[in-house]
Amino acid sequence: MILYKNVTKRYGALSAVSDFSLEIERGEFFGLLGPNGAGKTTLLRMTSTLTAPSAGFISIDGVRIDRNLTCAKRRLGVVPQYSNLENELSALQNLEYHGRLYGLPAGKLRRRSEELLEFAGLSGRKNDKAKTFSGGMRRKLMIVKALMHEPDILLLDETSAALDATWRRRIWDLLRELHKQGLTILLTTHYMEEAQTLCSRLGMIDSGTLRRTGTSEEIIREAGNFVLEYFENGETTRHFFDSRADALAGASRGLNEFKVREANLEDAFIRLTQKRFRD
Ligand SMILES: Nc1ncnc2c1ncn2[C@@H]1O[C@H](COP(=O)(O)OP(=O)(O)O)[C@@H](O)[C@H]1O
Ligand SMILES: [Mg+2]
Repeated sequence: MILYKNVTKRYGALSAVSDFSLEIERGEFFGLLGPNGAGKTTLLRMTSTLTAPSAGFISIDGVRIDRNLTCAKRRLGVVPQYSNLENELSALQNLEYHGRLYGLPAGKLRRRSEELLEFAGLSGRKNDKAKTFSGGMRRKLMIVKALMHEPDILLLDETSAALDATWRRRIWDLLRELHKQGLTILLTTHYMEEAQTLCSRLGMIDSGTLRRTGTSEEIIREAGNFVLEYFENGETTRHFFDSRADALAGASRGLNEFKVREANLEDAFIRLTQKRFRD
């Protein structure tokens, strides 16, 4: 339903996103995983029509977003990386304001705002100014604000960054519930655990290039299911193997201290984005 076709975004000599092609199906919970500077925000900004690709195009259900901005805007709910709340407005007013911008009928504004605040567990604070909200509550408010105009696709940019573990998990539950209700979700994150826990499919982006897509199991399997790890001459070396037996055999060459363990997504990410493995 969301199609990226050879999308490139250049800033001068720098390609923030290079020849990015991907198809996200309706109902997917897709995680775009990558380190700082990988191009995640640029990709979401292009998807939400804030900036145009230098080459290639993005379409939603076969309609190019640059040919029908209004349609794209209606279908997309966007939760940006940094706050888009009006600090001096209350939670309720923030939602109503967004709804009004999107042309929601007056009769519906209050009802939908109240419902969404209830859904996010923020009803008790609905008349408090956004500036009095904690980081986690602000995130929740940004998410429900993005839902005011009833989009069917939700884009979230590093939405749990800088939250503590408890709040991160609250946000995860909120997103799970929205996914269960039928929303298509595309989120960016640099937290491996978040990607692994929430997303049905992942894309690994690095230096503007999509390196791999698949489930976390598929990506780990490709890198190697087991890791042999040892510390020598001031650095940790990791070798990847398909089986534990192979990894143990690999360790038998005179290593004193080593560890054999199951590989996780972080191992796979580092391995798959290493130049040596890529080329
Ligand atoms: N408006 C801009 N002008 C120039 N360079 C930019 C701009 N936006 C992003 N970049 C550069 O593009 C690259 C990708 O940035 P970004 O999409 O923000 O990455 P991420 O969100 O993954 O951290 C970075 O090198 C960043 O400095
Ligand atoms: Mg970013």
